[in-house]
Amino acid sequence: MTASEYRSRFTEWDQRSWVRSKPHRDSPFTTGRHYFSADLCPLSACPRVLAAPAGVRAAILVHSLYLHLEFTVQLEMGPVNEICALLRSPGFLPWLPAAMKDDVLRIYTDEAGHAEMSNTLKSAVVAETGVVPIEHRPRFLTELAALYSAELPAYRPLVKLFFAIVSETLITGTLTKLPKDPAVQPAVRELARDHAADEGRHHAFFRQLFELLWPRMPLPLRRKIGALLPRVIHAFLWPDEPALTSVLRSMPGEFDDPVRIVAEMSASARNRDAVLRNATPTLRMLRDNGVFEDPSVSRAFLDAGLLGRAG
Ligand SMILES: [Fe+2]
Ligand SMILES: [Fe+2]
Repeated sequence: MTASEYRSRFTEWDQRSWVRSKPHRDSPFTTGRHYFSADLCPLSACPRVLAAPAGVRAAILVHSLYLHLEFTVQLEMGPVNEICALLRSPGFLPWLPAAMKDDVLRIYTDEAGHAEMSNTLKSAVVAETGVVPIEHRPRFLTELAALYSAELPAYRPLVKLFFAIVSETLITGTLTKLPKDPAVQPAVRELARDHAADEGRHHAFFRQLFELLWPRMPLPLRRKIGALLPRVIHAFLWPDEPALTSVLRSMPGEFDDPVRIVAEMSASARNRDAVLRNATPTLRMLRDNGVFEDPSVSRAFLDAGLLGRAG
């Protein structure tokens, strides 16, 4: 693709964006509905969790919602909007079409809205349920910091850029499946639906950005970044093991070995399948653009268990 072929998905942004045209979803909470989908909670299928009382399992779903909402707030306000701001600056990728530099401000605005809507829902659920969120730093931030510090300063903006491209092209089960789960609170499902609608437009933007950028990068740089991408994908999709361990620890008397329960969950086929399934949109984009044709890059994906659907 060439810069003149950019197709904006933001021409009707005023009418379609959540922050520009839709209200806060404040459907009342209903007794008997869950706060998150058990199918999307990595702990829910663990035998020790399945054997726990219904109230404990319900509280784990409340924590799962908190983790998802906090992940969203910190991702949108952090790396994604930092990259939007960088993309807007005239000196960064100056060959980008002017229409993309305009659209990136719309994404920036959307993401600030998503952070706010997520934070507001989190506060409402805390007030409703009395379940106190655990204190944690989302795992993806730790991973980004590790990737960042391993690189020379000159490469760091590029690492963060690909971090944003990966996160914006992953449309996870959380956003697509939550709205369809009738067991989940309407307010949670409505937020996920509104967020997913905006993210569909962001996906189209970042996919086009990738298709413009990748062929312009010299081969050694493509190889270097390509080999980092499996770790970037896992940073977003692998369950947040430290946070989930803290969730189980917050229920004293219920789980005698939280570390082992989380380790078994991580090693399960269900988890590996979920990661691969959620990675599919990004893997498809990479495959369509020939990324796996480089043997050193495809080897990195294979080693990470991410080439099943891509190759
Ligand atoms: Fe978002
Ligand atoms: Fe987004």
